[in-house]
Amino acid sequence: MNFEFTEEQLMIKQAARDFAVRELLPDVLERDAEAKFPHRQMKMLAELGFFGILVDPKYGGGGMDSVSYVLALEEIAKIDASAAVILAVHNSLVTYGIETYGNEEQKQKFLPDLASGNKIGAFLLSEPEAGSDATSQKTTAEDKGDYYLLNGTKNWITSADNAGTYLVMAQTDPEKKHKGINAFIVDRNSEGISLGPHEDKMGMRSSDTHSVMFTDVKVPKENRIGEDGFGFKFAMKLLDGGRIGIAAQAIGIAGGAFDRALAYYKERKAFGTEISNHQAIAFKLADMAVKLENGRNLIYKCAWLKDKHKDYSVLSAMAKQYCADSAMEITTEAVQIHGGYGYVKEYHVERLMREAKVTQIYEGTSEIQKIVISRTILKD
Ligand code: CAA
Repeated sequence: MNFEFTEEQLMIKQAARDFAVRELLPDVLERDAEAKFPHRQMKMLAELGFFGILVDPKYGGGGMDSVSYVLALEEIAKIDASAAVILAVHNSLVTYGIETYGNEEQKQKFLPDLASGNKIGAFLLSEPEAGSDATSQKTTAEDKGDYYLLNGTKNWITSADNAGTYLVMAQTDPEKKHKGINAFIVDRNSEGISLGPHEDKMGMRSSDTHSVMFTDVKVPKENRIGEDGFGFKFAMKLLDGGRIGIAAQAIGIAGGAFDRALAYYKERKAFGTEISNHQAIAFKLADMAVKLENGRNLIYKCAWLKDKHKDYSVLSAMAKQYCADSAMEITTEAVQIHGGYGYVKEYHVERLMREAKVTQIYEGTSEIQKIVISRTILKD
């Protein structure tokens, strides 16, 4: 057992931290208030290699391991969780999905643009009537010989407007239920794609979220991933990895709130101003620190298992549930420690609390994670 990070992992963590403080922090409140996509910062992150962090250098990526990736995500989420979710969906779901399950032709065709950040990736699974119950896909992909015809609506799609490459799950044979679902790589600019309005969200306000409508969209046959009917398993396998990324995002948000609460506590103490009961606050900080440590250990273990090609399916559900629930608790306490100041935007903790909430919802609610965990422990 070795709990030490490598020099390379620490270097990436530091690079992400430096970038977040220098480029994301200065106008994070403005982007949150105006729901403005971080175009300039995404371009810079692309130039620094964060859009191809996991991708093999032969397809234009950095070929880093998952531990480096989650360390970077955590540092970015501490400062700006919207930027982190754009990266998380792009890397954990889209580039990883194409690289791991696509064929050689698909990898050569789609990965270089994604790895360079020339195109952002989006993952289209959820539908108006298929959120938690992902097997009930109503979007159809009709086999027309050398292409599929895509029709239907997807909901809650992160980066829907700013992405160039969509990974879309659709039903090709309803009689086969989930075994009739397939996954397709779809060009965002294909004819027949339209978007619903920009969702006015509680948090993560500078990442764009929309519904996506497909009306007779032609998808070349060669854009289907894997064997016929592989789409549902593909989505589930990707979500196993995606949940490590969301756990890292959640613990990053929580870490950001903890750092601010700790600094506030020390500053108030240093100026001799009584925060009503010092030990009560100190104990809150201790509880927060324990949760952060537990969450990080779960995430790093998951990422390590993924890098070793060992099974991490249940552990990633545990990490996602624990880190998301802890992030909600930690950010709520950070607001409490700040008192009235915590309730105003200038101190950032109310934003972090709003951002934490969605980590309990997307890529499977905390309840979905409990289904995954309990099924495994109750098996046999
Ligand atoms: N890996 C591989 N295969 C898996 C799997 C996994 N982790 N989980 C399930 N499967 C397989 C099963 O083995 C089964 O295969 P067979 O039929 O061959 O036996 C098949 O998939 C069906 O599995 P279940 O019977 O377990 O399916 P279910 O309907 O009972 O429930 C669920 C599965 C876990 C509840 C699943 O529907 C789920 O995870 N739902 C949540 C969906 C979700 O997270 N959506 C998030 C959208 S993406 C997003 O939010 C991105 C963003 O923009 C931020």
